[in-house]
Amino acid sequence: MSSVPHYRRIADSLVDAIRSGSLEVGARVPSERELSAEFGVSRMTARGALKTLVEQGFVNSVEAKGYFVAASRIDQRLQTLTSFTEDMRRSGRRPSSIVLAARKAEAAGEVAARLAVAEGASVYHLLRLREADAVPVALEAAHIPESMAPGLIESADFASDSLYATLKQRFGILPVEAEQSFEASAAGESDAAILRVPIGAPVLRLTRLSLDAAGRPLEFVQSVYRGDRFTMRVRLAPGS
Ligand code: GLP
Repeated sequence: MSSVPHYRRIADSLVDAIRSGSLEVGARVPSERELSAEFGVSRMTARGALKTLVEQGFVNSVEAKGYFVAASRIDQRLQTLTSFTEDMRRSGRRPSSIVLAARKAEAAGEVAARLAVAEGASVYHLLRLREADAVPVALEAAHIPESMAPGLIESADFASDSLYATLKQRFGILPVEAEQSFEASAAGESDAAILRVPIGAPVLRLTRLSLDAAGRPLEFVQSVYRGDRFTMRVRLAPGS
């Protein structure tokens, strides 16, 4: 007899069905009751299989409705300094944004320190919910010194315009170097509501500090990426 637990065997067979396309994105996944009848296992075992699939991002659980095959993850390449718009287009998805804030603010604390500007210096604050094929996938708070792109907020409609494209086309500046970090975290109440995930759902907190060609800090971004929507991928060179 196989030593693979029953719930795992069921989860694996559902993953096979998803990967082969016989269960398509958005399709309803058999319920606990249906799985327990089909595989001859308890409802608890069937629930364990479904829970595993939710945790792995293959399936979404919709309260009172059941389980549905989740859209595949966005394969995010990390070695290039690209914008969200470029990343989504490359992965074959349609980017869009909801602007939650676009205003001038006084730099303080970490934002001032990372941008290397004085406390109280004028910075643009752009908070956007980023969507891929109309599904919210990330919340991005960008801070840009006003001195780097005077009039930035007024010069574009960031519901449709790319920030990087605007910086390049209107101001002739581009991020050419950046340092980025990720930390695993759980969605708090407000992030969860905005990103439409359950409170406590896994997220990645990302920061990026990008510099222009002259080495000046251009943008400091604090983002929250949905953990169930991305696979972060990087190609590694041989170690020395
Ligand atoms: C990525 C970066 C952000 C940047 C954004 C710009 O998501 N992590 O730092 O603000 O791209 O995206 P866009 O040019 O599509 O507005």
